[in-house]
Amino acid sequence: MVEYSLSPTGETFKLPEAEDYQKELIRLQELVKEQRALGREIVVVMGLGFVGAVMAGVIADTVDQGGRPTKFVIGMQRPSPRSFWKIPWLNRGLSPVSSEDPEVVPMIHRCVNEKKTFTATYTYEALKFADVVVVDIQCDYIKEALGNVREGRADMEALEESIEIMAEHVPPEALILIETTVAPGTTEQIAYPIIKKAFRRRGIQSDPLLAHSFERVMPGRNYVASIREFWRVCSGVNPEATRRVVKFLSEIINTERYPLTVLDRPIESETAKIVENSFRATILAFLDEWSLFAERNGVDLIKVINAIKVRPTHNNIIFPGPGIGGYCLPKDGALGYWAYRHIHGWEDDIFKITPLAIDINDTRALHVAQLTRDALRNMGRPIAAAEILLLGASYREDVGDTRYSGSELIVRRLTEMGAEMRVHDPYVLKWWEFEKQDEYPASSQSLKRFFRGQEKLKELRVEKDLGEALSGVDAVIFAVRHKHYLNLDPDEVVRQAGGPIAVIDCFGILDDKRIRRYFELGCEVKGLGRGHVKRIKDQVRMNRIKEGENGG
Ligand SMILES: NC(=O)c1ccc[n+]([C@@H]2O[C@H](COP(=O)([O-])OP(=O)(O)OC[C@H]3O[C@@H](n4cnc5c(N)ncnc54)[C@H](O)[C@@H]3O)[C@@H](O)[C@H]2O)c1
Repeated sequence: MVEYSLSPTGETFKLPEAEDYQKELIRLQELVKEQRALGREIVVVMGLGFVGAVMAGVIADTVDQGGRPTKFVIGMQRPSPRSFWKIPWLNRGLSPVSSEDPEVVPMIHRCVNEKKTFTATYTYEALKFADVVVVDIQCDYIKEALGNVREGRADMEALEESIEIMAEHVPPEALILIETTVAPGTTEQIAYPIIKKAFRRRGIQSDPLLAHSFERVMPGRNYVASIREFWRVCSGVNPEATRRVVKFLSEIINTERYPLTVLDRPIESETAKIVENSFRATILAFLDEWSLFAERNGVDLIKVINAIKVRPTHNNIIFPGPGIGGYCLPKDGALGYWAYRHIHGWEDDIFKITPLAIDINDTRALHVAQLTRDALRNMGRPIAAAEILLLGASYREDVGDTRYSGSELIVRRLTEMGAEMRVHDPYVLKWWEFEKQDEYPASSQSLKRFFRGQEKLKELRVEKDLGEALSGVDAVIFAVRHKHYLNLDPDEVVRQAGGPIAVIDCFGILDDKRIRRYFELGCEVKGLGRGHVKRIKDQVRMNRIKEGENGG
């Protein structure tokens, strides 16, 4: 059976068949010969996702002091129906990730079409040519319950399999740099023995050159800079691996301005990543209870946070929005929780805050459905069959990444409650979490399993025209701080909707002037952490009464 991979623009690409692999190997062999003659190092980047595609571009863009390219990158990606399209896209010089950063698209175009330092492939044979392998494949954490991360496990099989394949192909002197966020202990206690044993089978006596250095990339406006112009932590399994990883990172990253932190052991680099993201998840989770406090006691948490932020010791306090999504924060702490028992063999349970923070963050979005229900009820409209428009599908502003976004949960819960959902997002072409919910993010891993009545969501499409999306809705949910939503004029929104609507602000998007105007237009407004809206509503009502008394 011929299999296809569908790109976000709807183009189909036939998956490679057995006879294609030989031709592809010959293509790579010729390219590598040419590139070696030019004195370039061959770097294979495994996994061309949100991290790997851009990291591969940054490496391919590297030049020496004379401005000459020093690396040739072979981006290697599994030819799965979900991801194969990225290979032909990249080979045309197109970016498989969409972002606000104006550097991403020209960088990939430049490296593929002008400098000719970047190609993409589907064959693991590429690993045979590597001087350096950079591993950017995913390591998931599978949750078995909504809001209980303890009932779950790290999905190690895919990673172990990839390491096995690498070990069978790479030259013994190649540096293998794991950038994947892994359960602490993985590099030394899982990857190292796998590679060592495979090397022995291949008759190689030398120690594998294995290192860990986690990514801090931030998809968004500073996507490329968050790799090239940012601090890195790294560590190798032996002194030579450490020397090689330091050399490699110093060549591709601006380490003069952003010096490397070299730790003694890879488990320390792995733990640094997990603690860094658990810290972030925790400071977000802790505000959930204060968000509810604010809503119930007339407090605007946005203003409270801004007041606290001016204090330099507290300037990283952040409002949590409708849930904490993205690929990393919902899972990274769990990888540490899991490693404690399943890699290191401890039986006791030392973790209280880290799993709790993830559980709070994973369920925060459900409260948005309650606010929407209550706002509609105040307008005398039942939630069942209400038409609701969600503004923003991605997990953070100005990116097209929908993974584990709070918006997904909002849609799922409101659908369960009977609402008809529409969604608008200027950055998201396809919301695969719905359109392909039987197989995305993996078969039987969709969050749909925690809700009822989800089948119709396969038909949910991302609207591109905001005016059309607004037409005839009962409620609008401002879910993401995309720049397109920050200055929307209430009069225009209500005009396009065709009358007063319920407005839910999940992210401090509306200022008081706009909130007041929505009330004046007959709308109902509610917001996460925004208890002061009731005060504005009362003022508007009082003004109306006064105007009435004055015969206005
Ligand atoms: N996305 C972020 O913002 C971010 C930030 C920092 C760190 N990280 C970490 O970086 C890692 C990668 O994340 P991502 O967001 O790029 O994930 P992703 O799912 O977008 O990309 C992973 C890619 O690897 C490919 N892949 C899987 N198995 C493979 C194999 N055996 N051979 C070749 N390719 C394979 C997948 O098809 C996919 O394209 C994760 O550990 C993540 O936690 C991500």
